[in-house]
Amino acid sequence: MQYVREPMNPYAGDLSISDFEQLLDRKGGPAVVVHGGAGTAVTDDPAPYLAGTRRACEAGLQVLLAGGSALDAAQAAAMLLEDDPTFNAGTGACLTSAGDCELDASCMEGTRLNAGGVAVVKTVKNPIALARRVCDDTPHVLMAGPGADAFARECGIALHDNALLITPRQLARWRELDVIAQREGADKARGRMGTIGAVAVDSRGRLAACTSTGGTPYKRPGRVGDTSIIGAGTYADDSEAGASSTGLGEAILKVTMARAACLRVRDGLSPREAAVAAVALLRDRAQGDGGIIVAGPDGRLGWAHNTPRMARAMIRVGMSTAKAAV
Ligand code: GLY
Repeated sequence: MQYVREPMNPYAGDLSISDFEQLLDRKGGPAVVVHGGAGTAVTDDPAPYLAGTRRACEAGLQVLLAGGSALDAAQAAAMLLEDDPTFNAGTGACLTSAGDCELDASCMEGTRLNAGGVAVVKTVKNPIALARRVCDDTPHVLMAGPGADAFARECGIALHDNALLITPRQLARWRELDVIAQREGADKARGRMGTIGAVAVDSRGRLAACTSTGGTPYKRPGRVGDTSIIGAGTYADDSEAGASSTGLGEAILKVTMARAACLRVRDGLSPREAAVAAVALLRDRAQGDGGIIVAGPDGRLGWAHNTPRMARAMIRVGMSTAKAAV
């Protein structure tokens, strides 16, 4: 199963690709890098993707400059992206074949390797906040389904009717896919994917990563991709790197893409080179399409994708605004 192949669209970004490469390769934290998913349609207006990812980066950096942890910063950035209906996570998530939202998310910090994830959550507006509670307040790493929703209630996290997460855009997509499914079978009803992610590094090289998604459009109820899985969708280790993946979860899981990228930084690649290598691994070994963002403990950043577009942005100390591309 792959993305629908589309012609490459002219690049839209705040900087040229080579200027971005220089900026990503520069050392020095604090810094934040985010993605808004590797499935952005070439026909979509880039403006909301650029604005949303910039805003998220800037919010994350503010948290770091105010003395917050890397995990606080990555979470703040991820929550803004979850709340932005442009992106397939939280509000605006895609729908399952049953016509509702099932959300996945995870977070990890790289100093003590604390991590938390949730899968198939239906009543929480910000699943990354629930993943953080799993990380901080339970002995577990991953909670799924009704038990995860019940844990949200126990934590006092506001519960939402699932219908409030559904946007007119995603409902229209679901209706199109449902027609295909009725005609050709559910597994033929595939659409563009998306995920959001944020990786933050503080001035002392402490790393954290967060990832959140509605999963794949028209997925079977109960399907879980890479996003809630530590090592696949999310990874952070201060002695390696931090990373957040996007793309086809079934392929990302097989190559544990986030950890694969982090190991390459540990072994000497720059975060940018490691991102390129991780995407090559995804394609060569699992025939997958997707992308990844990476941050190293020295503040260097990286991103790569093999899809026509991936919304992304970065900021580091000294920059007044984040720089984005799609
Ligand atoms: N990468 C998101 C998913 O496949 O669920």
